[in-house]
Amino acid sequence: MSTMTTLLETAQAMVAPGKGILAADESAGTIKKKFDSVNIESNEANRRAYRNMLLTTKGLEQFVSGVILFDETLRQCALDDQETPFPKCLADKGILPGIKVDAGARDLAGFPGETVTEGLDGLRDRLAEYHDLGARFAKWRAVITIGEDIPSAVCIDANAHALARYAALCQEAGIVPIVEPEVLMDGEHSIDQCDVITEVTLNSVFTALREHEVLLEGIILKPNMVISGSNCPEQASVEEVAGATVHNFLRNVPAAVPGIAFLSGGQSSEIATAHLNAMNALFDPLPWELSFSYGRALQDAPLHAWRGDANNDLSAQKALYHRARCNSAARTGTYTAEMETAA
Ligand code: 13P
Repeated sequence: MSTMTTLLETAQAMVAPGKGILAADESAGTIKKKFDSVNIESNEANRRAYRNMLLTTKGLEQFVSGVILFDETLRQCALDDQETPFPKCLADKGILPGIKVDAGARDLAGFPGETVTEGLDGLRDRLAEYHDLGARFAKWRAVITIGEDIPSAVCIDANAHALARYAALCQEAGIVPIVEPEVLMDGEHSIDQCDVITEVTLNSVFTALREHEVLLEGIILKPNMVISGSNCPEQASVEEVAGATVHNFLRNVPAAVPGIAFLSGGQSSEIATAHLNAMNALFDPLPWELSFSYGRALQDAPLHAWRGDANNDLSAQKALYHRARCNSAARTGTYTAEMETAA
C-alpha cells in the first residue's frame, strides 16, 4: 500500500463515525501536576499503573479510535501476565496508537510571554523508531497566548513553520500528524478576541502546511474552540461557542482536511462535551468530521476515581467509559444532560 493511501486511511480511521481520540500523552512535568492534584507520587510504576487502567478499559474501542501516548508509555507493557506492550494492547482492540513528538513549548527569544514549540532536531529518526514501535499517528502542540500586545505575528508564524516541518516529516514516515495550534483560553479576553486570533493562527498554519507540501487529506487538525477567556467576565453560551467555532472554521479550514478533533483546553468535562454536541447538532452537514481529542475532559473523572489505588481501577474505568460514551454521542449531536444523571 502506498504511503499516501496509508495516511488517508489512518486519518479517516482517527475520525471514524462516533469515535474520537483520548489524549494520554502528558509529559513528565504535566503528569506530575496531575498526580499532585490527587496526592499520587509520579514515579514510573504509578504512571504505568495509571495508563494501564485507562488503556485496558473494557469497551473503550466503541468510542475511541486512537490514544496519544508519551514516549515512556509507548515503551511500557501492560500489567498483564504476558506483559503486552501498550501499543499492542491498543492495536489488538482496533485502537490506533499515537505518540506525542514535540519537546514542549519554550520561551521565544525576544518575545516576552510567548513560546515556540521545539523538537524538530532528530525528528526523522525518532519517527522511524516510533513507527517501528507501532505508532500510526503523532501530535505536536503549538501554544498561542492572548494577552496585552500578544500574540505577535512572529510567534504565530514561528509556530506554524514548526508545525509544517513536523507534519511533512510525519507524512514522509507514514505517520498521520495531528496539527495542534492551541490558542489558550487562559486570560480575560472575549470570545471575539479568541475568534480573531484563532483565524490569524489557522491562516498562518495552513499557509505553512501548503508551502511545505503537506497532504491536507492526511492530517487531523486539533484546535481550540472559539470560546471566552476563562477569566472573561462575560462567558459565551454553549450555542454561541458552537456557532462562533463552526463559522470560523468554515472560513479557515480547507474542506480537504478529514477531521477536526478539538482539545478541551481547561473546559470542564461536561461543558467540553456540550460544546462538541451543539456544533454537531446545529451544523450538519459539514465538510469535515467534528470530533474530540480530549485530555483533561476525558481523564479528570477517572483520575479522581482512581487516586493511585488499583482497587479503584473498575470505578475509574467506568468513569472513563462514561465520558467517552457521552463524547461519542456528541459526535452526532445526540448527547443529553440526562446521560450524565442516568450514569
Ligand atoms: P486537553 O484536552 O486537556 O486540553 O489536552 C489535549 C491535549 O492533547 C493538549 O495537547
